[in-house]
Amino acid sequence: MYKELVIPQRTIMTPGPVEAEPRVLRAMSAPILGQYDPDFLNIMDEVQDLLRYTFQTENQQTFVVDGTARAGIEAVLSGIIEKGDKVYVPIFGRFGHLLTEISKRAGGDVHTTEIEWGTTYSFQQLKKEIDEFNPKVVAIVHGETSTGRMQPLKELGHYCREKDILLVVDSVATLTGTEFKTDEWKIDAVIGGTQKCLSVPTGMAPLTYNERVEKILLERKKIEQGLDKDSFNDRMISTNYLDLSQIQEYWSPKRLNHHTEATSMLYALREGLRIIKEESLEERIKRHKYNEKALVEGLEAMGLEIFGEEFDKVPTVTCVMVPDGVVESEVRLEMIRNFSVEIAAAFGPLTGKIWRIGSMGYSCRKENVLRVLSALEATLIRKGVKVNRGEALQAALNVYEA
Ligand SMILES: Cc1ncc(COP(=O)(O)O)c(C=O)c1O
Repeated sequence: MYKELVIPQRTIMTPGPVEAEPRVLRAMSAPILGQYDPDFLNIMDEVQDLLRYTFQTENQQTFVVDGTARAGIEAVLSGIIEKGDKVYVPIFGRFGHLLTEISKRAGGDVHTTEIEWGTTYSFQQLKKEIDEFNPKVVAIVHGETSTGRMQPLKELGHYCREKDILLVVDSVATLTGTEFKTDEWKIDAVIGGTQKCLSVPTGMAPLTYNERVEKILLERKKIEQGLDKDSFNDRMISTNYLDLSQIQEYWSPKRLNHHTEATSMLYALREGLRIIKEESLEERIKRHKYNEKALVEGLEAMGLEIFGEEFDKVPTVTCVMVPDGVVESEVRLEMIRNFSVEIAAAFGPLTGKIWRIGSMGYSCRKENVLRVLSALEATLIRKGVKVNRGEALQAALNVYEA
């Protein structure tokens, strides 16, 4: 017989998934409503409104795609990239490679540049590549969770608009954790993530796009045969599930019958977004910065080295060097076993060299910062690492009590 599910209580300080807001989990246990129940349709409309606030946009086309964040990325890129379209992806970590992979699978002629993991691009570097390659689309990550870096977008956005290039941004790790201004920065399409700074479980990809993107989608629109037997388009989008030309009609007053919306997930997202609105984006961004400061000062006071430079650090992820002679996976496992505290490993060239500590959404709070510092310090001491005993918590408390 299988026992009843008993899930341990964890302190999750990774770059996602992070702890869900308790109010969000409660919202998920509400009864199911039918797909076209007026009360459910009203919830869909409210989610769109709240998402516009979250993305700082007036875009009509602002909704969610069911699936994890990469489903949103795939929906946008496969909607606008047709065979042979020129796409430029500036890579500075794992998720730039993901954008490349998805763009290639969509049939794009993809040009990439890759810089050392742990750095970001200057606008001049990006401009040079754009001028030489003259792409139809530029796809870039805002907050690279694999390296803890944040790419400035404002100048890039204005330049792409000037050159009539579509700019697609992965803001999966930054949305509501730091400033993100879709319209002001002239970004054509943005994809966020629920399981990070929104503190809603994984499984939905919030996205927004403007009329420039919508125009291409409408040109490629083809309705499912079972709904419209005459619908034909030789440029139709190759995916049905992630076909934004149909999904946007499901989210419009037409309510085209596409997929069956994930009822309980939408309740969750609505509650998560309601919390963001209550807190306000300004206060939420300040909270992320404040806790990041306590975390970084604590790690430094312990004697650990922060990976990368301060000027382009993403406030939601702190990467820290693994001390010499330490097997990083042993430390992570012991932190979970003894303290129920989780931090993350690294990818690619940084594997084994850094830990990634997230401070996102509901997980981004004082007691979590203090817990992760104490669990890490105690574990390192037991591994024989020389740390400045007791200093980390004092440094963090100094930030909180200043
Ligand atoms: C920056 C970034 N982009 C995209 C993704 C992909 O998200 P998902 O795992 O939800 O598909 C992640 C996931 O960690 C991420 O950190």
